[in-house]
Amino acid sequence: MKKILIINGPNLNLLGRREPGIYGNMGFEAYLEQLRAAFPACTIQYFQSNSEGALIDKIHEAGFTSDGIVLNAGAYTHTSVALRDAIQAVESPVIEVHISNVHAREEFRHKSLISGVCKGVITGFGLDSYRLAMEGLLRNEK
Ligand code: DQA
Repeated sequence: MKKILIINGPNLNLLGRREPGIYGNMGFEAYLEQLRAAFPACTIQYFQSNSEGALIDKIHEAGFTSDGIVLNAGAYTHTSVALRDAIQAVESPVIEVHISNVHAREEFRHKSLISGVCKGVITGFGLDSYRLAMEGLLRNEK
């Protein structure tokens, strides 16, 4: 069994209710059920926090034992050197994901501080971005 951790950052606890025109109508827990069914050979753990420090702690905790981390860092993507350093510090590959196409939005979303230390980036496919990230992780191991 592969151990994959999905981490969602700030405001992503509101998926399904937050700006549905951009992020869709489905809550993440419901989507997670579909994702787990689609990857029966994986244990998919899930963590969400609105706090930068809690996200960093989780990356430290899982980053030496999991087979991969799928990370939607939300707005911290564009601001957090600390999150970048945490990703760089651990051994597990990290895939950066975004639900929306950040390059088609405001200019401040075009810059990611974490892309350079992630294994890959998936952006703009709605919630399907998480599935695509899982595929990428499983096909291109460490
Ligand atoms: C997001 C894009 C970010 O710019 C934004 O701050 C989010 C969500 C996305 O999934 O599209 O919170 O990461």
